[in-house]
Amino acid sequence: MSEPFSVLSREVAETERIAATVAAHLRAGDILLLTGDLACGKTAFVKGLAAALGSTDTVTSPTYALVHNYRTDRCDVMHIDAYRVESVREFTDLGLDEYFPECIVAIEWGDKVAGLFDDHLRIAFHLADAHEQHRLLSFDCSGERWGAEMTQLEAELGVQRGADCGGVDGESPAGH
Ligand SMILES: Nc1ncnc2c1ncn2[C@@H]1O[C@H](COP(=O)(O)OP(=O)(O)O)[C@@H](O)[C@H]1O
Ligand SMILES: [Mg+2]
Repeated sequence: MSEPFSVLSREVAETERIAATVAAHLRAGDILLLTGDLACGKTAFVKGLAAALGSTDTVTSPTYALVHNYRTDRCDVMHIDAYRVESVREFTDLGLDEYFPECIVAIEWGDKVAGLFDDHLRIAFHLADAHEQHRLLSFDCSGERWGAEMTQLEAELGVQRGADCGGVDGESPAGH
């Protein structure tokens, strides 16, 4: 089993670079759950992801439309925002699952529907204390699909762990 890990992003471009590293691992049928408060960088991450996959489509938050689709060189990216979805039932009633096997699926506020996906990569976005533009991206996963690949991702992202990334899950760095 792979351990959760966190990576620090110091600016939007860095979030996009992290997304590009993740993108290299993605294939049709993959489910990416993006969680974290407003303005933490979930949509910025999807922007980097789609661009890295060769998309020239404009990536914007699907808060009202609920779903946007972007064409890429690999397969479509289905960008879902579950912010306004009030129940798992409401989500499943949208009938999007029919398209999941042929798309890379990125779901903002994905915690709301995590129970639907045995296999998923989850990235939780946090504001980091240190600087207005700092974001901490915490990775974990569920299911066999991501086990080994998480370890690879961790290595590629040059990870900072534990005490190095103070502020994760409410923990403050020593001395605060
Ligand atoms: N390191 C960073 N990563 C991502 N976004 C950042 C970062 N630093 C500042 N920002 C800003 O934070 C905002 C993130 O917005 P957005 O991606 O729409 O968040 P969310 O989808 O989580 O609501 C943008 O205005 C972006 O410019
Ligand atoms: Mg968003």
